[in-house]
Amino acid sequence: MSHSTNNSHSIVRDPLKFAYWVPNVSGGLVISDIEQRTSWDIDYNRKLAQIAEQNGFEYALSQIRFTAGYGAEFQHEPVSFSQALLAATEKLKVIAALLPGPWNPAVAAKQIATINHLSHGRIAVNVVSGWFRGEFTAIGEHWLDHDERYRRSEEFIRALRGIWTEDNFTFRGDFYRFSDYSLKPKPLDPQPEIFQGGSSRAARDMAARVSDWYFTNGNTPEEIKKQVDDIQGKAAENGHKVQVGVNAFAIVRASESEAREVLNEIIAKANPEAVNAFGHEVKNAGKASPEGQGNWAKSSFEDLVQYNDGFRSNLIGTPHQVAERVLALKDAGADLILLGFLHFQEEVEFFGKEVIPLVRELEAARQLSTAAE
Ligand SMILES: Cc1cc2nc3c(=O)[nH]c(=O)nc-3n(C[C@H](O)[C@H](O)[C@H](O)COP(=O)(O)O)c2cc1C
Repeated sequence: MSHSTNNSHSIVRDPLKFAYWVPNVSGGLVISDIEQRTSWDIDYNRKLAQIAEQNGFEYALSQIRFTAGYGAEFQHEPVSFSQALLAATEKLKVIAALLPGPWNPAVAAKQIATINHLSHGRIAVNVVSGWFRGEFTAIGEHWLDHDERYRRSEEFIRALRGIWTEDNFTFRGDFYRFSDYSLKPKPLDPQPEIFQGGSSRAARDMAARVSDWYFTNGNTPEEIKKQVDDIQGKAAENGHKVQVGVNAFAIVRASESEAREVLNEIIAKANPEAVNAFGHEVKNAGKASPEGQGNWAKSSFEDLVQYNDGFRSNLIGTPHQVAERVLALKDAGADLILLGFLHFQEEVEFFGKEVIPLVRELEAARQLSTAAE
């Protein structure tokens, strides 16, 4: 957790960071026929990235998908898409999704090092372990068991970091091998941040060992706190520092009832076949996660209408209500909130103008009361 100590009794946390999901795949972030004024094309996305960086968002997270499934008929490749967004912005950091298997760490390390130079250090990566068996089969990739996928992801991350920081990098893993490899040029310092997505035991243990950031599905502050305590406890034992990002689907409107109505309409217009098929696929993907704590293990039909349980974080209400709930997630240990919206351009701007300033006020008030303790 990122924090600085201002005296021996109190801890002042860094300001929360905000990220948005890059709509680089079609269909938006909900499996519903409700109107979504969001486009997956590059012109829409360039403008969105500019709006985001002008309105308090520090990061944008791209998605990797090789095939359609439950929406997302069209999918742009995230590394090249991220580079296009970086070229269109000045300070936004863009997190490119990487899927070990299709991506080999030698190629990924080289690509990202170059983009790091092109963007003066604004590229980061999200190493995802995969949930979509049909996608792996379609592109001729082996579908490993759940925990094996994480063993591969961990080697992938260790390889990335080794290639980026060491000369004559040598690595003997079960999935990847390197001999005396010296990447030139290496990324500029600070090194590209490495995010990961997933909540299972294997995902948490990987975060506590190697990732800079742990991204998890939406949840209540109570449930997020349990995960944070678990991960931060283990990370401390390992002498490793990791920060936590929590997903949320935000519906911020002038009144709470208006916001709830939008949620009801999203659910009412959900396509039940697609939602159930998505639920089947993701629950099946986690079957081999022995402890059953993975993302979606407890997701209801309503939760599954948003790909990453974003309604559970409950950022649905007025700007004041949402700002308070964002703070509750921070109190639970979140360092970053990852946001999805129905109408990205309008709502990223609205969130930045109406909610983030309230969050900053609440954070300042906390800081004052902590300092007074
Ligand atoms: C914020 C976030 C972003 C993700 N992005 C992607 C993605 O772009 N592509 C993908 O295939 N999986 C993505 N995933 C899914 C994860 O790779 C992983 O398969 C899933 O979270 C289940 O992991 P678990 O069983 O460890 O909980 C994402 C997950 C999270 C939480």
